Amino acid sequence: MNRQTWRGLTLALMLGASAGALATTACAQPPASAPAAKPWLDPKLDADTRADLAVKAMTQDEKFTVIFGYFGADMAPKYKRITQALPGSAGYVKGVPRLGIPEQFETDAGIGVATQGGEPNKRERTALPSGMATTATWNPELAYQGGAMIGAEARSSGFNVMLAGGVNLVREPRNGRNFEYGGEDPWLAGKMVGAQIKGIQSNSIVSTIKHYALNNQETGRFVLDAKIGEAAMRTSDLMAFQFAMEDSDPHSVMCAYNRINGHYACENDFLLNKVLKQDWGFKNYVMSDWGAVHSSAKAVNAGLDQQSAGEAFDKQNFLREPLRDALAKGEVSQARIDDMARRVLRGLFASGVVEKPVKIEAIDYAAHAKVTRADAEEGVVLLKNDKGLLPLVAGARKIAVIGGHADVGVLSGGGSSQVYPIGGRAVQGEGPATWPGPMIYFPSSPLKALKARLPGVDIQFIDGKDKAAAAKLAAASDVVLVFATQWNGEAFDSPLTLENNQDALIDAVVAANGKTVVVLQTGGPILMPWLSKVGAVVEAWYPGSAGGEAIARVLTGEVDASGRLPVTFPASLDQLPRPVLDGDPKTPDALFAVDYTIEGAAVGYKWFDLKGHQPLFAFGHGLSYTTFAYENLKAETLGGALTVSFEVRNTGKRTGKAVPQVYVSPKDAKAIGGWEAPQRLAGFKKVELAPGATTKVSLTVDPRLLATWNEKAHGWSVAAGDYTVTLGASSRDTAAKAQVAVAAQSLPVGLMKP
Ligand code: BGC
Repeated sequence: MNRQTWRGLTLALMLGASAGALATTACAQPPASAPAAKPWLDPKLDADTRADLAVKAMTQDEKFTVIFGYFGADMAPKYKRITQALPGSAGYVKGVPRLGIPEQFETDAGIGVATQGGEPNKRERTALPSGMATTATWNPELAYQGGAMIGAEARSSGFNVMLAGGVNLVREPRNGRNFEYGGEDPWLAGKMVGAQIKGIQSNSIVSTIKHYALNNQETGRFVLDAKIGEAAMRTSDLMAFQFAMEDSDPHSVMCAYNRINGHYACENDFLLNKVLKQDWGFKNYVMSDWGAVHSSAKAVNAGLDQQSAGEAFDKQNFLREPLRDALAKGEVSQARIDDMARRVLRGLFASGVVEKPVKIEAIDYAAHAKVTRADAEEGVVLLKNDKGLLPLVAGARKIAVIGGHADVGVLSGGGSSQVYPIGGRAVQGEGPATWPGPMIYFPSSPLKALKARLPGVDIQFIDGKDKAAAAKLAAASDVVLVFATQWNGEAFDSPLTLENNQDALIDAVVAANGKTVVVLQTGGPILMPWLSKVGAVVEAWYPGSAGGEAIARVLTGEVDASGRLPVTFPASLDQLPRPVLDGDPKTPDALFAVDYTIEGAAVGYKWFDLKGHQPLFAFGHGLSYTTFAYENLKAETLGGALTVSFEVRNTGKRTGKAVPQVYVSPKDAKAIGGWEAPQRLAGFKKVELAPGATTKVSLTVDPRLLATWNEKAHGWSVAAGDYTVTLGASSRDTAAKAQVAVAAQSLPVGLMKP
């Protein structure tokens, strides 16, 4: 039985029974003692000094205590939850009460306080829309607010470590976990996920950026070897981590399951020691993913600081007895053990959680619903609106709503990030019975929310299982909304197609009535064989706890459609760097490699631009209910920095939000060399404008977005020359271009603070 099966079978059995206690268990936090006796508890000292002082006071056993974690749920018959852990939680690390060092209570993940498997009890929490949806807002302020909200729920639930901050790039559109991440571009992903982590950590708790790194597909995730060159990884996946870390200073980093160039991520000296700790100067701790540790000395010497959920997931408790043996044999130094403990404590001190212990408190769910709704509605992307079908208007008309359980709720993604919904599951019995299932619909009904907003309109719902009945209802209606869903989750990848004959359903409906709007709830991109026939397409992703309301507000025009794609929608699988996904879900332990040298750093739209492929929908695309003009583009270098300014004008008749995007490219790419693709996203800004209003936007381009990796100099180099600055509404929709001469520049490898 493999780890995944273990997890599936046992969590489903055990979590349901115990999870209710999550809301009622009090956390045993050590009391903060007088700083004179325990100077490391003095919050006026900096985190480094405090960690140094505390480690000096620690016994060897205490050092070993803080570097080893336990799973927070039972996994019968192999593992019984340690009683101190919050039931149903992701993890637990013992504290050192003698020194006032708190226990670590760990919870997943990016959309809220998650629990896995079993039936809901008292573990319902607010769920944000998926990471992909939040990224589709292109609004870092919303990502921050969402992070602050889920971090507050984590704190009020007794958790002081949130395993949130997934920033793996969409290298593989079929990756089942893309919904947890921040899209395909390093700048956009870094800004959005960085803002979320900052929001979480504003609650004085730890957030964990993950999964470091190149963890880009679920098939074979425990074994696959990601092959990629240094320049390519630094200019893509690592750059996303780098940008996010610069903005958020995460207190922890989670190393991934997979291998990178032959070494597991949690024992990868290049990634952990060289890039993260040396180049980027990361001072906090590296925790392993659950089941990602394969050695003691090798892992620890490569930079792993804490083993997560060891007894439950890893083959051995590598960072416990075997590490003591390795120390005795001289394979690991005492200095390194001290450094590991020190890093864990530094993360805790830096977070503020030591002087502000977490405690279980009431949560203001009504206030939090507004936060998740604001996020969801700005993430909804209007992909197509040819016949002006949207926004829907009130009046004596008939609207058909078909499929997707739109009468009762909205879909969410499965796996460890699954939040159980307030009000219970809207749909029972769909998807796998065990982890990463079940398939969970949050009880926020788009149908009810539409009815409330369209008085006088006759709105009929039909579930869509019977194509002929759906077509009949469509034919008798003025406008048809088909709700199509695609469930993605952890531990499996997804073909880019809709399941359960939903394509055929859409075909049947649109044949009966051309005024058909398709409303999608998907983890990421899908193929749309019916695209040319339908009148409008709306991508709502997994929209979270208030998703039904958010969808209805966009469909009725109560708010503008202002989401933009953070990911390219391919027209076919042939367009991808790997038309066939590597690995075989039937042999999860068989080692294999994935060749990321094919695209290198040309991820997503960069690959499409490089190859000249026409995507179904381009990165950055999304329509509004109004129209915008982008004017007076100026690009200049000010004090060595490339500054771009322009005006955005609302040329339509209603208030709306634009997302002007700036792309950069060398004028003569051959002369400059080293660019992975024709253009890179270099800046964006979401702006709201009343009809006729104009606003001026100024952006300073991060110089690394003009640079290439210089292996010899071990840093970034901007080549002198002319660069083209392109302003547009997407990576393919260009409004204006400007040329600018840029001087040569060298940039350090380390993190640059904004
Ligand atoms: C996932 C992590 C998660 C951890 C704890 C792992 O399977 O990859 O993202 O944080 O489990 O639940």
